[in-house]
Amino acid sequence: MQKFNNLDNFKCECGSKFEVILPEFLKTVSALISTFPPADVPSLIAHYLPGLVGCPDLLTPEQRSLNGLDYQKHEVFLCPNDKFSVLAVVWPAGIYSPIHDHKTWCTFGVVEGEIRETIYEENKSENGDVTAVSSMDHRVGSIAHMSINESNIHCMHNPGTDPAVTIHVYGGNFKKIGANVNKIYATHT
Ligand SMILES: [Fe+2]
Repeated sequence: MQKFNNLDNFKCECGSKFEVILPEFLKTVSALISTFPPADVPSLIAHYLPGLVGCPDLLTPEQRSLNGLDYQKHEVFLCPNDKFSVLAVVWPAGIYSPIHDHKTWCTFGVVEGEIRETIYEENKSENGDVTAVSSMDHRVGSIAHMSINESNIHCMHNPGTDPAVTIHVYGGNFKKIGANVNKIYATHT
């Protein structure tokens, strides 16, 4: 994912209630999707997501909850026209996602904790193998995005000792798309 910014300890400065900010954010995302090509949408959303991520009452206790050892997704908003989905993802301490790429575009922000993202490139000469090419740490307030029109093979890892929480805006209806994973490239041992 391309990193948009890194605003350590970012907090919403407008003082607006989450109930006000969320509808405004959703209207903005809808307008961006209707106006711009899909390849441009995730980077445009990245300009607006900090206002949502910085709200102290962004998520309910249920949307921050973990049941089990795997990372967990909670619905925040599902566009009735299937244009986009907003999810909260809770990452247990120490967890790694599989190395994967995606079916659709994504913009995400870190609400709590830290996520280490490792970017991979497919090794064309060795069937299915990938090579790590870079790594970046996304801390509270960090916003990142990926376009579906470019290679986006990555792994997400919570390197901390406490759960991390992120909020994701995905293209499409995640309930109809299913897991937003195009391909699993390898597993961590
Ligand atoms: Fe991913």
